[in-house]
Amino acid sequence: MSQLFQAAKLKALALQNRVVMAPMTRARTSQPGNIPNKMMATYYQQRATAGLIITEATQISDDSQGYSFTPGVYTDEQVKGWQQVTNMAHQQGAAIFCQLWHVGRVSHPTFQRGELPIAPSALAPIETKVWISDDQGNGKMVDCIEPRAMTQADINRVVNDFAYAAKRAVEAGFDGVEIHAGNGYLIDQFLRTNSNKRCDSYGGTRENRLRFLLEVVDAVIKQIGADKVGVRLAPFITFKDMDCPDIVPTILEASKELQARDIAYMHLSEADWDDAPVIPDDFRISLREIFTNTIIVAGSYTQQRADDVLNKGYADLIAFGRPFVSNPDLVSRLKEKIELADLDGATLFGGNEVGYTDYPNYVQAS
Ligand SMILES: Cc1cc2nc3c(=O)[nH]c(=O)nc-3n(C[C@H](O)[C@H](O)[C@H](O)COP(=O)(O)O)c2cc1C
Repeated sequence: MSQLFQAAKLKALALQNRVVMAPMTRARTSQPGNIPNKMMATYYQQRATAGLIITEATQISDDSQGYSFTPGVYTDEQVKGWQQVTNMAHQQGAAIFCQLWHVGRVSHPTFQRGELPIAPSALAPIETKVWISDDQGNGKMVDCIEPRAMTQADINRVVNDFAYAAKRAVEAGFDGVEIHAGNGYLIDQFLRTNSNKRCDSYGGTRENRLRFLLEVVDAVIKQIGADKVGVRLAPFITFKDMDCPDIVPTILEASKELQARDIAYMHLSEADWDDAPVIPDDFRISLREIFTNTIIVAGSYTQQRADDVLNKGYADLIAFGRPFVSNPDLVSRLKEKIELADLDGATLFGGNEVGYTDYPNYVQAS
C-alpha cells in the first residue's frame, strides 16, 4: 500500500494517514467580525478523513487582513466560531492546525481603517491585487499600494499578536498553529531582499532578514510549545513580487534554526496555480539533511508524485489543495483510484454553500 494511507506521528499527535488538506482561503466567514460559522464547520468536517487539516489563512489582529471575509482568531466570537470547526474535524479523526497570517503589504487601507498597510519597507508589490467586497459579496480586485515601513514598536506588537492568536487558537481547540511565512505575506516580505530594504537589524544580511520570523516563532513557542508549531515557507514561487535571488539559501538557513527549536513541521508551498516550478532534488536533499522533523510538501501533487517524494524520504506528509475543494472524500478517491472531480473556479472565494459544501462524495454522486 502507498505510504500516503499509512498512519503517521506528528510529535505526540497520531495522524490517521499522510494526506494533509492544504490551507485554502475561501472567504466565507460571517459578518461583521470575520467569524467562522457552521457552514465552515461542515466544509472542514466533510474533508476530515485527511490525517491533518491546515485551515485557511487566519488573521491575528485587525491590521493583519488583506482580503474580504477571511477569518480571525483573536476575538471571543472568532474563538467560539472555530470551536465548532475543531470539534467537527476531531469527530472525524483529523488533527487540525490553524494557519496564522499577517498579510503585510498585500492589503489595502480598506482593511486598515483608512491607514496604510505595514511592511518591512515602503515598497508596493508589483502586479499584486487583493479582493475587496461589500457585505453583500459584491467585490473587485484592487492593486496593492505603497505600504508604510514598520517601526520597532510595530514589529514588537505584531510578534505579540502572533503569540496571542496562537494562544487563542489552542483555546479554540486547534492541535497547533502554522505560521504563514510564505506566499509573499508579511514574514516572507522580511525574508526577501527585494521587499526588505531595511538598514536596521531586520534587513540586509540573511541573519537579519530571518530575525522577524524567528522572533515570531520564539514568541509562539513560548506561548503554546514547539510541538504545536509548524511553519510554511515558499522557496521557489515568485508571484506577488517574490522573486528574490537569495531566498533558497535564506530558507535553508531558516530550516537550521527551526530544527534547533524542534518545531512540529516545516511546510513547503511549492506552487500557486500556474506558478509551479520544478523543485530541484539537491534542494530536497539539503533540506532533509538539515530538517529531520516532519516535512510537508504542497503543490500540484498527484498520487504518483506523492509516492515518489515519500519513497525517497524527501517529505513525510503530502498536502493537497485544489483536489480537496471538489473532492471532499479525496482520501478514499485516491486510495480507490477513483477519478477526481473538477472544481468550479467561480465559487472559490466568497458566497454560500454553492461550490463550498455541495461537492458530493463519490458514493453519493454515483
Ligand atoms: C482557493 C485557494 C486558496 C488558497 N489559500 C491559501 C491560504 O490561505 N494559505 C496558504 O498558505 N496557501 C493558500 N493556497 C495555496 C495552497 O495551500 C496550495 O499550496 C496550492 O493550492 C497548491 O496545491 P494544489 O496544487 O494541491 O492545489 C490557496 C490555494 C487555493 C487554490
